[in-house]
Amino acid sequence: MANFTNMELTKLNVIEALRNVISFHDSDNIIDLGMVGNIEIQENSISFDLVLSKNNEKAREILINAATKTLREIFGNNLDVQITPVLEASKGAPSLNEVKHIIAIASGKGGVGKSTVAANLAIALSRAGKKVGLVDADIYGPSVPTMFDLVETKPEVFEQGGKPIIIPIEKYGVKVLSIGFFVTPEQPLIWRGPMATGALNQLLGDGLWGKLDYLIVDLPPGTGDIQLTLAQVYKISGAVIVTTPQKVALADVKRAASMFKTKELEIPLLGVIENMAYFTPEDMPEKKYYIFGTGYGEQFAKELSIPLIGKIPMVEAVAASGDKGSPIALDEKSPVTQAFDKIAEAVIKKF
Ligand SMILES: Nc1ncnc2c1ncn2[C@@H]1O[C@H](COP(=O)(O)OP(=O)(O)OP(=O)(O)O)[C@@H](O)[C@H]1O
Ligand SMILES: [Mg+2]
Repeated sequence: MANFTNMELTKLNVIEALRNVISFHDSDNIIDLGMVGNIEIQENSISFDLVLSKNNEKAREILINAATKTLREIFGNNLDVQITPVLEASKGAPSLNEVKHIIAIASGKGGVGKSTVAANLAIALSRAGKKVGLVDADIYGPSVPTMFDLVETKPEVFEQGGKPIIIPIEKYGVKVLSIGFFVTPEQPLIWRGPMATGALNQLLGDGLWGKLDYLIVDLPPGTGDIQLTLAQVYKISGAVIVTTPQKVALADVKRAASMFKTKELEIPLLGVIENMAYFTPEDMPEKKYYIFGTGYGEQFAKELSIPLIGKIPMVEAVAASGDKGSPIALDEKSPVTQAFDKIAEAVIKKF
């Protein structure tokens, strides 16, 4: 190919350049096949998503290499090229094919206890004899490293056929991966959408998960890129919505729930969990104080037409154990643990 090293780096020129990259499998170029999305250009870097219909490692590698080579030939050898492979919205993507069920823990609102539920449910499922993994997909505020006392831990990464493979950390009977293992605390805040979803794909797609009954995904709050990517690229068995007992929470919960229910995503809602449903003092475990009133969980479940699968009390030890890195569900005597065991039972009954 001729050397156009001085060609100006614009979106249009990038598109023209990528027309030289042919997918032999489909005998056309990757632009006209609609395989390129989210092109972003900065001073000396290009990033884009490469949409693949199959998780064929060899084809992916050939296309990524060809596209990188072509772009560097045209725009200069030191061009930084970042290509994120994205599986087409084919439900039942063959990656993670030894994982029986992916379960997303979601909410429309921050701070309602998603991460607490994700970590403790994972531990409760493992205690029930299941093989369990946990992905901390909260790119903007990962909390699994703290909750599992793994703040300084770095998972082992090796390469296989040009693809990085990440070995999840095993702790408390759960295989864990968090974006927090790979970034410093201030880093994730500046991440752009495609980078964030790329990171999610790496944790899920490049993690060496092996055989799992359940892979629990702790989502960031709201309905953003991460939720969309997760829903569109992976086959999610069900979503659990976490809420707190306040009227104002209902609108947020409904928003999150309706996102999962849309035709494009079609993720079944497994159930609602009412967290901090009532307050129980440490020294009076039989007491229940309904600080915010009662019946919210039931009301949310009814309005969303999905079952209420658990009520978790507000107990000081939940927060303390999370901060300390040993989630409450490890303490078999805690009433909170019993609540999580019940939720685990509901999940197992469903799948
Ligand atoms: N049942 C509970 N009793 C006492 N404290 C709780 C309970 N559930 C959660 N917490 C505490 O509330 C805080 C928020 O919980 P958590 O981080 O799990 O929420 P989150 O929904 O994941 O938040 P974010 O939206 O920031 O990801 C934490 O400090 C946690 O320890
Ligand atoms: Mg969280």
